[in-house]
Amino acid sequence: MSETKFVHNTNPDVSFNGTLAQFQQLSPSAMIFLGPPGAGKGTQALRVANEYLLPHISTGEVFRAQIAERTLFGMQAAETMRRGMLVADDAVCGMLAEHIHGLDHPGCLVLDGFPRSLNQAKWLDQFLRMRAGQNHEFYTAPLAVQINVTRDQLFRRLSGRRCCPNCGQMYNLHFHPPVNSGICDNDGAALITRPDDREEVVLERLRVHDQNTLPVTEYYRRKGLLQEIDGDGTVDMVHAAIARLTRTLTF
Ligand code: AP5
Repeated sequence: MSETKFVHNTNPDVSFNGTLAQFQQLSPSAMIFLGPPGAGKGTQALRVANEYLLPHISTGEVFRAQIAERTLFGMQAAETMRRGMLVADDAVCGMLAEHIHGLDHPGCLVLDGFPRSLNQAKWLDQFLRMRAGQNHEFYTAPLAVQINVTRDQLFRRLSGRRCCPNCGQMYNLHFHPPVNSGICDNDGAALITRPDDREEVVLERLRVHDQNTLPVTEYYRRKGLLQEIDGDGTVDMVHAAIARLTRTLTF
């Protein structure tokens, strides 16, 4: 398949079984960060979004903002998240569509934590096609980046994570602690632990990931749209691996 055909591909049955070199000139409709809880999706997605001035959309962050604002949706999602379960597909997709429609950016989306089920992945396919015009004439396929991390490392990252409730800055007691223990470097606020980072909830999140989200990884693999990277290294090492992918893309 030629690059041109891929870039303007409107046929859902045509997939891209590409090497890195073949991704050249590719302008994806979305970069989808996949991986288990604690893999570094948020850390890396935000970095890519900042580098290329793309909108970073984390469904988890959107939910947490709704919970903080005590909206009806937030109140409904809070208990589900506290237990480490997935929020219902319809609710997530509806909220995401609304969020994206409100963006002043026509191009590539950086998606972090979405899709997490096969239903969401299929919904996203349709959504990206519609977003590319009535006849999908400007459609380009998304690129899914799977960050693979060993279980030991995941537990260290999640148990050590602390966040600033004011500015959202993330820390890690093991890898990136604040200068003063328990205090945000930016604004001096007391750091908090996410309620779903308790050990028993982490175990449930990992189980839910394996059951619901690993099939999403396979979905993109079968379509030839998946790139996997080793996420066990430092933030900079993982970023360098992602940069090798993005360098070949146009945004
Ligand atoms: P969400 O907020 O998306 O949580 P998650 O997917 O479980 O992912 P995390 O945020 O825990 O980890 P991450 O991979 O982003 O890693 P991070 O960069 O933060 O979702 C929360 C909940 O919302 C879900 O459980 C569900 O209930 C609901 N939800 C969300 N989306 C949904 C959807 N689509 N459908 C249904 N429900 C949905 O890093 C983790 C820690 O490690 C940090 O401390 C960081 O500093 C550190 N770190 C990162 N990279 C490195 C590195 N390379 N080396 C050392 N430390 C590192």
